[in-house]
Amino acid sequence: MKILIINGPNLNFLGKREPDIYGYKTLDIVNKEIEMFANFYNIEIEFFQSNHEGFIIDKIQESYKNVDYLIINPGALTHYSIGMRDAILSTSIKTIEVHLSNVYSREKFRHKSVISDICIGKIAGFGIEGYKMAVQYLSNLKK
Ligand code: DQA
Repeated sequence: MKILIINGPNLNFLGKREPDIYGYKTLDIVNKEIEMFANFYNIEIEFFQSNHEGFIIDKIQESYKNVDYLIINPGALTHYSIGMRDAILSTSIKTIEVHLSNVYSREKFRHKSVISDICIGKIAGFGIEGYKMAVQYLSNLKK
């Protein structure tokens, strides 16, 4: 099984960005932890991060045939990117939405997601464990 994990805008700043909310680990460290976790389940992971909506759309379009599932933390794009929603819809890639923070305990504009209804499920508020929870769930599914 192969999973693509996409992180959106500003998640490259993990570790220095509002650490009270997002923690002190860098994205590199987070990705290494996820990779080690996924190895245990014999799952291959490809990681991608971009601050640019179009690059994320390009990545979904070029990868959907080569991966079984998508785990995505779209950052702020969550709340408004219809282009990203359309990319997920047009590729029919099975997707899990992940957020480090509990978006529902934060500002009202973070409560809205334009992709939740087209995802298998959504995990929010468990920090970087959320990515691993998503991997673990997918490990139980057939390709
Ligand atoms: C986030 C929540 C978003 O509202 C925010 O814009 C982010 C990170 C999270 O992981 O908690 O960039 O997706």
